[in-house]
Amino acid sequence: MHILLTGGTGLIGRALCRHWLQQGHQLTVWSRTPERVAALCGEGVRGIAQLEELAETPLDAVVNLAGAPIADRPWTRARRQLLWASRIQLTETLVAWLASRSSKPAVLLSGSAVGWYGDGGERPLDEDDAPVTDDFAAQLCAAWEETALRAEAEGIRVVLLRTGLVLSAEGGFLKRLLLPFRLGLGGPLGDGRQWMPWIHLADQIALIDFLVQQPEARGPYNACAPQPVRNRDFAKALGRALKRPAVLPAPAFLLRAGLGELAVLLLGGQQALPTRLQAAGFRFRFSELEAALADLLPSR
Ligand SMILES: NC(=O)c1ccc[n+]([C@@H]2O[C@H](COP(=O)([O-])OP(=O)(O)OC[C@H]3O[C@@H](n4cnc5c(N)ncnc54)[C@H](OP(=O)(O)O)[C@@H]3O)[C@@H](O)[C@H]2O)c1
Repeated sequence: MHILLTGGTGLIGRALCRHWLQQGHQLTVWSRTPERVAALCGEGVRGIAQLEELAETPLDAVVNLAGAPIADRPWTRARRQLLWASRIQLTETLVAWLASRSSKPAVLLSGSAVGWYGDGGERPLDEDDAPVTDDFAAQLCAAWEETALRAEAEGIRVVLLRTGLVLSAEGGFLKRLLLPFRLGLGGPLGDGRQWMPWIHLADQIALIDFLVQQPEARGPYNACAPQPVRNRDFAKALGRALKRPAVLPAPAFLLRAGLGELAVLLLGGQQALPTRLQAAGFRFRFSELEAALADLLPSR
């Protein structure tokens, strides 16, 4: 297959490229720094700065993961604009370009997040559920999904990936927690009761491959392990995996004072379940957090 990726240089994208290169697929990554693509994604992966560079080269699939990091810094007005433009405007450009081509790919798999549901509190959430609250992250995900879905009018199958927290030792959320936890400064956020839908990077890659290749897969899929945990249980499990205490809570008022509305991402959560993936026959390699952490953080 010839697959076009946006966000191919990111945490998930790099691992996807490694996986698909091994399977012999032809890969193109649309990037702000195309000259770095081969070094980041693998030799043989082509980097392009403009979609027009592809002209009418046939494409089988498009995977759309680009977006400025959402939890890195407070959501000031300028940050919100960047988060919006790097997902919604980029996806608009992508879909308009797909519409302009005479040959269309069979599938567009486009990013989203469990944040689409807002803060779900204690409710188990699957893909039939409506959003529970309407914070900025939920609005961003809703607009991202709606924009990608416009490709359906072009006869393209659209898959929407509502991703949980991707666990990898190479980057993302887990890597950022390692230093404080190794120093014994880790612990729950707020009261720690909020649900954390997590997923091992290996399962994230396997399920993207699965959804791209399944001709019947379309619409939203929760990309998270079947056993979400509460934040305090995540902190305990990570402390155990690193053989460190994990008892120092980060008080909710401090998080709210320092992070503003971004704190809702850390103090809220979703008991999201991968109901549609499991119904489609996808099998998770890592369903339990302890096994995922043991795989990612082997004891030395
Ligand atoms: N990792 C998670 O836990 C998680 C959870 C839920 C949802 N997601 C979503 O899934 C997607 C992929 O996640 P990831 O962890 O692989 O992301 P990542 O490592 O942060 O990479 C995202 C990619 O987006 C592109 N990008 C960054 N800032 C941009 C900007 N201002 N304008 C245009 N493009 C920009 C970059 O590609 P170039 O530099 O090549 O342009 C970057 O490699 C993201 O959109 C993320 O929101 C991730």
